[in-house]
Amino acid sequence: MQKIIVAVDGYSGCGKSTTAKAVANALHYTYIDTGAMYRAVTLYFHDHYIELNHKREVQRALDDINISFVYNEKLSRPETYLNGNNVEEEIRKMYISNNVSQVSALPEVRYALVAQQQKMGKRGGVVMDGRDIGTKVFPDAELKIFVTADINIRAQRRQQELLGKNQLVPFDEIVENLKMRDYIDSSRAESPLLKAVEAFELDTSYLSIDEQVEYVIHLATDKMLHKHRENSLLD
Ligand code: DC
Repeated sequence: MQKIIVAVDGYSGCGKSTTAKAVANALHYTYIDTGAMYRAVTLYFHDHYIELNHKREVQRALDDINISFVYNEKLSRPETYLNGNNVEEEIRKMYISNNVSQVSALPEVRYALVAQQQKMGKRGGVVMDGRDIGTKVFPDAELKIFVTADINIRAQRRQQELLGKNQLVPFDEIVENLKMRDYIDSSRAESPLLKAVEAFELDTSYLSIDEQVEYVIHLATDKMLHKHRENSLLD
């Protein structure tokens, strides 16, 4: 079967990553969490006291950053590494969530990470989730999904997820964080969060994870068949 690129974009906490990860597993594709890359940069900037409005300092820091994903067989998930250290747990903490949108709005940061993402996905067979995958990173992706959900439901899910990691964060604080990130992510000058014209909209408010995954797999299978037929005609 022909390998395609599945671009999954949308707001924070809509179930993008959960869906994208499960779709990648089912299709035997590589899952790439681009949000984790922005979070890893945010952690590095935090630990090294990088001034966000100091362009040269930002660029020098970016040159020193190496982000990779290593599959953890025991937990059946890819984990994020920053300069050789596993930062998967750290980058999900609230102090990172509170700063990641400001960091990811910086053009220097976006140029560096978009280039790396394009390299990672260029051979296809990937499910990539983020904010600008279908519009900027892979505008020619065969399948684009735009995920949305009701803000209260998103906040409930995020609260449960944090509780699962023993982090008790008040509901209102989570709602505020989501709203702030939605605002910054959608209004930034450099590749803002936008629904690509040809993207399929997936509202997960009242769907189970299985239903979301099934929906995307169904569309992906269609696209793979389509690509296969097109290539057979060219042969
Ligand atoms: O998917 P996430 O919530 O882990 O993403 C964290 C932040 O990173 C999000 O608030 C916006 C930013 N981001 C981005 O600007 N572009 C992407 N492709 C992915 C994430």
